Amino acid sequence: MRAISVPGTCVIGLQWGDEAKGKIVDLLTKGRRYVVRYQGGANAGHTVVVGDEVYKLSLLPSGVLTPGVTCMITGGVVLNPAKVLDEVDELVSRGITLDGDSLKISDRTHVILPWHFAEDRVLDSSTGGESIGTTQRGIGPCYRDKVARSHAIRLGDMYRPDFRDRIHHITAEKNRVLAAMVADGEFEPLDANAIHSQYAEFAERLQPFVADTTELLLTSLECGEQVLFEGAQGSLLDVDHGTYPYVTSSNSSGVGISNGSGVPGKYLDRVLGVVKAYSTRVGGGPFPTELEDDTGQYLRDRGNEYGTVTRRPRRCGWLDAVAIRYTARLGGVDALCVMLMDVLSGLDEIAICTAYEIDGRRTTAFPSHVDDLRRVKPIYETVSGWREEIDHITSYDELPAAAKGYLDRISDLIGCPVDVVSVGPGREQTIVVNESLAKC
Ligand code: GDP
Ligand code: IMO
Ligand code: MG
Repeated sequence: MRAISVPGTCVIGLQWGDEAKGKIVDLLTKGRRYVVRYQGGANAGHTVVVGDEVYKLSLLPSGVLTPGVTCMITGGVVLNPAKVLDEVDELVSRGITLDGDSLKISDRTHVILPWHFAEDRVLDSSTGGESIGTTQRGIGPCYRDKVARSHAIRLGDMYRPDFRDRIHHITAEKNRVLAAMVADGEFEPLDANAIHSQYAEFAERLQPFVADTTELLLTSLECGEQVLFEGAQGSLLDVDHGTYPYVTSSNSSGVGISNGSGVPGKYLDRVLGVVKAYSTRVGGGPFPTELEDDTGQYLRDRGNEYGTVTRRPRRCGWLDAVAIRYTARLGGVDALCVMLMDVLSGLDEIAICTAYEIDGRRTTAFPSHVDDLRRVKPIYETVSGWREEIDHITSYDELPAAAKGYLDRISDLIGCPVDVVSVGPGREQTIVVNESLAKC
C-alpha cells in the first residue's frame, strides 16, 4: 500500500481508548521529524503490526518502528522508568535502533514512584460506588502529586544533588499516609534507600535520552518541519471533558495536545479522530450503547477485545454517534479514521445511536454529569449489515454497498469525512479514502 503523509498532524481517540491509534500513527510516521507522546503513561497500550511482528507499546511513540524518525516523550507524560527501559531493551533486542538521537524524553516528565502503585490500589477500591477500574499503573496518584507539587519528582530532578534527600523526605511522608490508608496488617513501609538506589540506576540508564523537548519541538516547528502528535487513551476518558470520574487523569482529548507538549495551537494543522466501527470500554463507568448479549460477545470475539495492558475483557456495544460527535467537535477533528470495520462482517443489521432520550426528552447533546449519562436511553437507527469478510479489501469501491452506507451515515452523523478505513491490524489492511492524505 501507499504511505500516508500529511503535515502537522494530531491523532486522537474519540471513544474510551483502544481505537487503534497505534496503527494510524505508524502509518502516518514516514517523513516526520518527530513523533510525540504528550500525555498519559504506561496505562496506554498501542499495537502496531508489521508483517508477522506485533509490537505493543506503552510509553514509546508508535513511530518507533520507522527508521530515521525521532520519537519524543514530552512533559505531559507520567514516566514509569522501569517500563520505558524495558520497552527500549525489548525493541533493541528486536533490531530497532534506539539511542539518544532517535529517542528524546523530556526532563519535565513526572516520574512514577513505588508509592504511586500502592496509592492507585487503595484509591480505586474506595470510590464509594462503582470503582474506576484503573490500569493500576500509578497514573492518577502521579498526576495528583504533580498538581499538588510538594511530593512530586520530575525526571530532571533525578540528576540534581538533592535527589537522595528528596526521596528520603517523600518516602517518610508517603509511609505515614499509606499506613493510614492501607488496611491493618497489610502495610509494608517503603524503603527509601532501596528506592533511591533503584531510581539512581534508572536515571543513569535514561540519561542519554533526557532532553528539553519543548525547545526541540518549538525550534523544529518554527523551521517548518513535520511533527506527528500521538494521543493516548480516548477523548471520553479526558479528565476535564470525559465521563468524569470514570476517566483517566490527563487531558486525553484534543485539548491536551498543547499543554502536554508545550506546542501552541497554531502549529496543530490537522486533527485525525480515530474511532472503532463500534464502541468498547475497559473499566467502570456508564456506557449507554453497551451490549451485554450475544452481539456484544460477537464483537468481543471477532475484535479480540481484551485489554492490551491488563488483558481485561473489554465491554462492547454499538457505535455511539452522540458521544463521538461531541468529542470530534471538542477536538476540532478534521477527518475520521474508522477502524476494525472487518469485525462487523456477518451481522444482518447494525445499530447506530443517533440521539439519547432522557426524562422523556430527545437530545443529541452529550450530558456533562455521569449520573445523567447513566440514565439516558439510546435511540437507535438500524442500517443493513453485510455478510462477506472484508479484511482483504484495499479500495473503497470494493467494499460491500452496506459497508459504504454505514460509513456514509457515520460521516453524516458526526459531521466529518472518513479519510481512512481499516479492515485488519496489518499496515496493508488500510483503505485510504481521501487521496489527498496519501502521498507516494
Ligand atoms: P490503541 O490503544 O488505540 O493503539 O489500540 P489498541 O492497540 O489497544 O487496540 C486496537 C487493536 O485492534 C490492536 O490489537 C490492533 O492490532 C487491532 N486492530 C487495529 N486495526 C484493526 C482493524 O482494522 N481490524 C482488526 N480486526 N483489528 C485491528
Ligand atoms: P490506550 O492509549 C483504554 C482506562 C482504564 C480505566 C480508566 C482510568 O491504549 O487507548 P488509569 O489507569 O488511566 O487511571 O485508568 O481509564 N484506560 C484506558 N482504557 N485504553 C487506554 O489507553 C486506557 N488508559 C486508561 O481502563 O477505566
Ligand atoms: Mg490500547
